Amino acid sequence: MPVMFINDQPVDTGEHRTVLQVALANGFYVPHFCWHPELSIVGNCRVCVVEQEGRGVGIACNMPVAEGLRIQTESEPVRAQRKAMLQFILLNHPVDCGICDKAGECTLQDYHYAYNGAPALSHEPKLHSTKFFPLSERIILDNERCILCSRCVRFTREISKSNVLGMEQRGDGMRVRPVEDRTLDDDPYSDNVIDLCPVGALLSRSFQYQARVWYLEPTASVCPGCARGCTVQLWHRRHEWRLKGLDGSHNERILRVTPLENPRVNGAWICNKGRDLGALFGRPRAGQALLKGRPVLLAEAIDAARRLVRGAGRRVALVSSWGSNEELRAFRNALADRFTSFVKADHRPGEGEVVEDDLLIRADKNPNTHAAQALFGNAPADIPDDTELVLVWGEGADFSTLPRGAKIVHLGAWLQPENGYADVFIPISIQTERHGHYTSFEGVVSAFEPCQRRPEGVIDAETLFPLLAAPPGSDT
Ligand code: FES
Repeated sequence: MPVMFINDQPVDTGEHRTVLQVALANGFYVPHFCWHPELSIVGNCRVCVVEQEGRGVGIACNMPVAEGLRIQTESEPVRAQRKAMLQFILLNHPVDCGICDKAGECTLQDYHYAYNGAPALSHEPKLHSTKFFPLSERIILDNERCILCSRCVRFTREISKSNVLGMEQRGDGMRVRPVEDRTLDDDPYSDNVIDLCPVGALLSRSFQYQARVWYLEPTASVCPGCARGCTVQLWHRRHEWRLKGLDGSHNERILRVTPLENPRVNGAWICNKGRDLGALFGRPRAGQALLKGRPVLLAEAIDAARRLVRGAGRRVALVSSWGSNEELRAFRNALADRFTSFVKADHRPGEGEVVEDDLLIRADKNPNTHAAQALFGNAPADIPDDTELVLVWGEGADFSTLPRGAKIVHLGAWLQPENGYADVFIPISIQTERHGHYTSFEGVVSAFEPCQRRPEGVIDAETLFPLLAAPPGSDT
């Protein structure tokens, strides 16, 4: 491999093709706006300048590596050029960081402090542009903050391939706009441009003005929206910044979802359905155990379920494809020999939802079908008429199709009318309240962590299954 020198240190260029890649891979930070590892190189922001011995400054993102190349990343000419570029980029920028959702994560803010830190040299009034341009139902564009790096445009051309965005006009009138009569609503991956935007120009409508990012922290999780198993970060309030005077639910809410980069599964991206997990996990929870709709203590419901498991003749279980690997194993170890088990699709494609594509989205809208079918097979549910007990775990079962005479034990997490229809209803925890793993359709196992408290009266399915296998009257 060729060896080059960065700040007089010899570095192996490895597989990298540009100076910027080599520098970043070897711990020499070079600022950059328009360059992104997953996108083509355009070289239009000019802040990634470095000095090449004997040849002056040039942009590192498009500078090929070569044997013996000598580069300085922080020399006086380099810092002077970066300062000049930041003065230029900020010429018409509103510098409204105090009300900008990107504050705290904005590289323009960081680079300004690192390389410029000076008031504007220009005495001309700033030119104004469009504020709050509705790019889609999900995204607002602030053209005054946009630095025209074109990352968003390249994303729609090279990754999502919706080709929705382009640039119009020239000079200081240049703006990002949807192409002709297209809209970013047509792109099921559109929200990735919010993360890609290095400044606060592209904003999520659902997250706008909800929280300053320094009050939040991410929890690693897995999107349960389909069998791909994209890894995500669920953002919620930090413990030390919990609100005391307002509705406590603000402290529990998932305020935004971003990709957790994972080369084996989803790369740097997730689809818009994954961005909406806050709403999915924020649905009204079931927290009350029921016997035929009558509220009872959890222990009483567990004991009633035990009696049914012991006393019934033919027993069938509809196993959840949202159960974690740990829960599925717990069910197999404790109860599988007492039931004929079928794996059920808890969720199916919703109206208007993209069913499948060749980027990330899978037709199976459940996160753990792979692991469930590995344990319980993939036969379609076939419930004989003489079945005496049906155990329904999770969502997606049509209760009207179950045998009329069968008793029903339902393990569910959400407030739903059928909870009161079951002979025994036991409320169970959801993914955001416990540790666990899902196995993607490709067999990749990914972990999720808890970020919300399990409500009173709710039990983890992994704990519940051994309890159901115990004799009636045993401790719970
Ligand atoms: Fe190199 Fe923008 S990152 S020119």
